[in-house]
Amino acid sequence: MTKPVRKAVFPVGGLGTRFLPATKAMPKEMLPVVDKPLIQYAVEEAIEAGIEQFIFVTGRGKTALEDHFDHSHELEDMLLEKGKIDTHKIVLDILPEPGSVFYTRQMKPNGLGHAVWCAKELIGDEPFAVLLADDLVMAKGKCCLRQMIDVYNETGGNVVAIEEVPREETNKYGVLSVMSDDGRIAQANGLVEKPNPEDAPSNLSIIGRYILEPEVFKELAKQERGAGNEIQLTDAMAKTMDRVEFRGLRFDGRRYDCGSKLGFIEANLAFALERDDLRDGVQELLKTFSQ
Ligand code: UTP
Repeated sequence: MTKPVRKAVFPVGGLGTRFLPATKAMPKEMLPVVDKPLIQYAVEEAIEAGIEQFIFVTGRGKTALEDHFDHSHELEDMLLEKGKIDTHKIVLDILPEPGSVFYTRQMKPNGLGHAVWCAKELIGDEPFAVLLADDLVMAKGKCCLRQMIDVYNETGGNVVAIEEVPREETNKYGVLSVMSDDGRIAQANGLVEKPNPEDAPSNLSIIGRYILEPEVFKELAKQERGAGNEIQLTDAMAKTMDRVEFRGLRFDGRRYDCGSKLGFIEANLAFALERDDLRDGVQELLKTFSQ
């Protein structure tokens, strides 16, 4: 029997250097895709997946994130005064259940593994999800995290979302070494962070969605540094593979890498084209560029 996945960690302590100067005074996770910040998509995905507790690992200059998920009485009152009832509802719908949101601070951006480790006391001894808001997933049917939790409930162990990437791009991702693969779920016996294409054990890369057994904290506690002199989550997951089964799920849906400029622009177009109020206008606009 597996324990239920009730808690999700949102590491938002990174510097977002690829988006400077936009991210100088604003967290990368607050960048909007169409009209919603990245972090809100991630939180909504977690809510849809049944997560009950939301743990943000923040850092310097991230107060906008906390404000986003809190009341803004002045704004709410003003919207009501102006009769903007629908907009008032949009602003209230953002708010999570009182008492379900927790913040801890990564005092230095020492890497994703370090950010996750900062949440260890809030997680305790149970499985948990990690969502990186800059990987935005447009799912077909169930959201990506729900698809993963369904697998976890069957199998336990660590479950990550994976996708096939072109061979020449393996050096951007954590890549699985696979021992069995049914075309949907790949069971792995190794994990390599950013391998060169010629050394990559497969082209199955991990995207920013994880379900992890608390065992990973034992490895993270060693605070060993890896690529880029950062404490890497991939390294810690790899080191638990001798005792925790590790599966990659090819999720139904499409992932947009909003940590890169092109991926971010693509996500804006893709999400706008999904919207009834914007589709026609965006299509018209795109025609003017293709001439
Ligand atoms: P990235 O690798 O995209 O790093 O982190 P970054 O700092 O956000 O952006 P660039 O590369 O400088 O442009 C992936 C996720 O992990 C979080 C980030 O906030 C992002 O959501 N992260 C990364 C942390 O929380 N702490 C860290 O020390 C590093």
